[in-house]
Formats: sequence, C-alpha cells, structure tokens
Amino acid sequence: MFVTKRKLERFAQNSTFRHVFQPYYHELVSGFKLKGKWKSDFFGNENPVVLELGCGKGEFTVGLGQKYPEKNYIGIDVKGARMWRGANTANEENLKNVAFIRCKVEQLELLFSPGEVDEIWITFPNPQIKNTATKKRLTSPQFLKRYRKVAKNDTIIHLKTDNTGFFDYTLEVISEENLPLLYSSHDIYHSPDHEDVTSIQTHYEKLFAAQGETIKYLKFVLHKNS
Ligand SMILES: C[S@@+](CC[C@H](N)C(=O)[O-])C[C@H]1O[C@@H](n2cnc3c(N)ncnc32)[C@H](O)[C@@H]1O
Repeated sequence: MFVTKRKLERFAQNSTFRHVFQPYYHELVSGFKLKGKWKSDFFGNENPVVLELGCGKGEFTVGLGQKYPEKNYIGIDVKGARMWRGANTANEENLKNVAFIRCKVEQLELLFSPGEVDEIWITFPNPQIKNTATKKRLTSPQFLKRYRKVAKNDTIIHLKTDNTGFFDYTLEVISEENLPLLYSSHDIYHSPDHEDVTSIQTHYEKLFAAQGETIKYLKFVLHKNS
C-alpha cells in the first residue's frame, strides 16, 4: 500500500497527542492501561463517556465535545490519518473532554470495562449492504452483543445514515431484539425538533446532503437482557 508523505506526518503527529491512542494489539490483550479507568485516569471527572463509532475525520466527536462540556467524547476509527483532522482541532482548542482511539470497533471489549460506556453514536457507517455481510454491519446483532459488553444497561444508541437499506435493516434488528425505539425519521432535516441531531454535520453527512440524499436518524435503548 502506498502511504503519502502527508499521511506519514499525520501518523507521526497523532503519536504526540496525549488524547490520541493507537494501541498495539499486544497492549490491548495484555490489559489496556485505561480500561476501566477512562473517567478517573484520562478525563479526570465522573462525566458520562460517549463513543462515536467509525468517526472518520472526527468532526462530530469534536462538535459534541464543544457543545456538551459536561460529557466526555471518544471517537473511534481504524483510519489514523482521517482521525488526525478532529484530533488536531481538539488539540488546538485544548478540548479536555475529547479523545480518539485508532482501533477496530470489534476491539471495544479490550478498551472498556463492562458498564464504562454511557452512550453510543454510529454516524454514516459503511452500509455493508450485501446480504452476506450483515454481521459486518455496525448495528447487526453481533455488534450489539459487543456493545452490551462495555455499555451500561439501557445505553442509548444513535444512528445517522443516508442509506435506506441500512436504516431499514437496523429497524428490523431493533424490532427482532425487542429493543425500545425512542425516535425514528427517514428525513431528519424535515422532521420537527431535529436541531440537536443536525446542528453538527459529519463529513459524509455534508457530502450526502449535498447530493440530495435524505438523512435518516434513529435512537434506541440497548437493553442488556433482551
Ligand atoms: C463512511 S465513513 C463515515 C465517517 C464519519 N462517521 C462521517 O460520517 O463522516 C465510515 C468510517 O468507519 C470506519 N470503520 C468502518 N468499519 C470500522 C470498524 N470495524 N472499526 C473501526 N472503524 C471502522 C472507516 O474507517 C470510516 O472512516
């Protein structure tokens, strides 16, 4: 794989940021230093921990952090050079309630203790819409099982997507697992009381909205014992 000079510079800069974590696999399996200690040892407060999964450039994580200083936000993505964008803004603005982890969503259990996560956002995930790939979808039963291992009981999960197939698939999973659906809109920009969800736009949200795609949003409760 060809890696550009700019990507290498971003990887290097990420490693200097105290709020960016790029753990090696051996660090994860031997017991990640902040597992169970994000609030006490990193954020230095008892505020809720909110994850954005597949955060891309991280502008949503940063935007939420700016808007809600009473919560802690952690953006997660495998792509370090993308994540650099949000990490750099958080650094320039000295945001103490924002962090990023370069890892796979599949590794959450190695990064967080049971009950350590208070809320989850999934923003414009790769839809993985081929039937054979359902287990790779970030709202599949397999991923919900992973979230249950780190989330407090009755954690709220939010999804924003442009993809109708992915959105409808998620509604089916929620129904099949008997999870309470708190809100659902196939066109959040034309729904009442949507300001809180659309005031911060992700990179992909801007792209899709500009192409005329409707933006879908739902939130549901992740019961532990359903
Ligand atoms: C379509 S982009 C959306 C990025 C951002 N949320 C946005 O709305 O602009 C999907 C992102 O999810 C990340 N991603 C996909 N699968 C992942 C996984 N299993 N673990 C971590 N990141 C993942 C990709 O690297 C990519 O940055």
